Amino acid sequence: MFNRPPHNAAALVWGLLTMALLVGILLYRYAYCCRPHEPVQPLPFTHSSHTAAEKANMDCRACHATAHHAAGAGRPTSGTCLDCHRHILASDSRLLPLHAAANPDHPAHTGEPLRWVRRAPLPDTISFHHDQHTAAGHTCSECHPDPDKQLPHTMQSCLNCHRSRQLPTSCDRCHK
Ligand code: HEC
Ligand code: HEC
Ligand code: HEC
Ligand code: HEC
Ligand code: HEC
Repeated sequence: MFNRPPHNAAALVWGLLTMALLVGILLYRYAYCCRPHEPVQPLPFTHSSHTAAEKANMDCRACHATAHHAAGAGRPTSGTCLDCHRHILASDSRLLPLHAAANPDHPAHTGEPLRWVRRAPLPDTISFHHDQHTAAGHTCSECHPDPDKQLPHTMQSCLNCHRSRQLPTSCDRCHK
């Protein structure tokens, strides 16, 4: 018991050091360098469950009501979500933040609103108006093929379409 050869102790120390180093590298990668740049949303909402024909089959405008008459597309109120989720997945823990925000009949209710985080906003110096684009006949999916992973819109993506439609591309049309 007490006469364990010394090289075992050395091996143990090296083993522990190596493990500490590996844990350190993983923590560093997770915390600083390589964490995916997805914001933390108040609850794990996915578009596909709501827009797929075999699920809730909702139109984009049911939740983004101003995309046809304002610059911003708008966000749904928690009341819109509760209309269904009082009944659908009513006791699912993923929806607790919703009940906390907007369901006074629920024990978790606190009134703390859902704060959705914008994923890829354009700089404030750019003017982009949804209504100008939807009025011209563009559909949501032309620019948001998969709203669960919206890619950042680049100047090139704007110009490609504007050029193909022979729209003037002077800088001050888009840059304020
Ligand atoms: C049930 C309501 C609902 C429906 C229906 C819905 N959305 Fe959303 N949408 C949301 C919520 C809530 C968010 C914020 C959470 C997020 O970004 O995932 C959001 C976020 C987005 C965003 C990302 C905004 C950003 O910059 O972060 C885009 C783009 C979007 N929706 C487009 C669409 C399109 C296109 C459709 C139709 C195919 C659609 N949505 C249908 C509720 C909805
Ligand atoms: C028209 C009814 C309806 C509305 C309105 C609605 N949902 Fe849903 N929701 C559903 C259905 C149907 C499912 C899928 C249930 C299943 O998979 O069994 C779902 C699933 C979910 C889930 C489980 C994860 C997922 O996406 O599959 C979450 C979280 C959720 N909804 C949040 C929300 C939020 C937040 C809102 C408001 C922005 C909202 N829902 C509005 C019908 C609705
Ligand atoms: C011509 C391309 C285009 C079309 C068409 C379009 N969008 Fe967008 N959408 C954008 C761009 C670009 C942004 C980023 C705007 C910003 O950050 O100011 C955006 C942002 C959004 C956002 C988040 C910011 C906000 O305004 O609330 C939502 C939600 C959204 N779009 C939904 C929709 C829906 C729903 C439709 C269809 C009715 C639609 N979009 C049609 C290009 C488009
Ligand atoms: C899929 C095609 C498409 C994309 C992508 C697109 N646009 Fe447009 N945009 C149009 C069309 C078509 C019009 C013309 C509407 C009209 O004439 O009424 C327009 C008009 C505009 C106008 C109004 C111009 C004016 O002077 O009246 C601005 C500003 C604008 N777009 C900015 C942008 C920005 C910024 C982006 C990228 C973030 C973008 N657009 C992406 C098709 C597009
Ligand atoms: C159709 C719309 C549109 C037109 C026209 C346009 N830009 Fe842009 N530009 C954008 C958008 C959108 C961004 C932001 C892209 C991003 O954040 O990734 C941008 C970004 C830039 C940037 C990067 C710095 C910044 O402000 O974010 C420069 C520099 C720039 N544009 C210069 C120009 C010049 C010079 C012209 C005229 C020759 C021009 N742009 C015309 C839409 C446009």
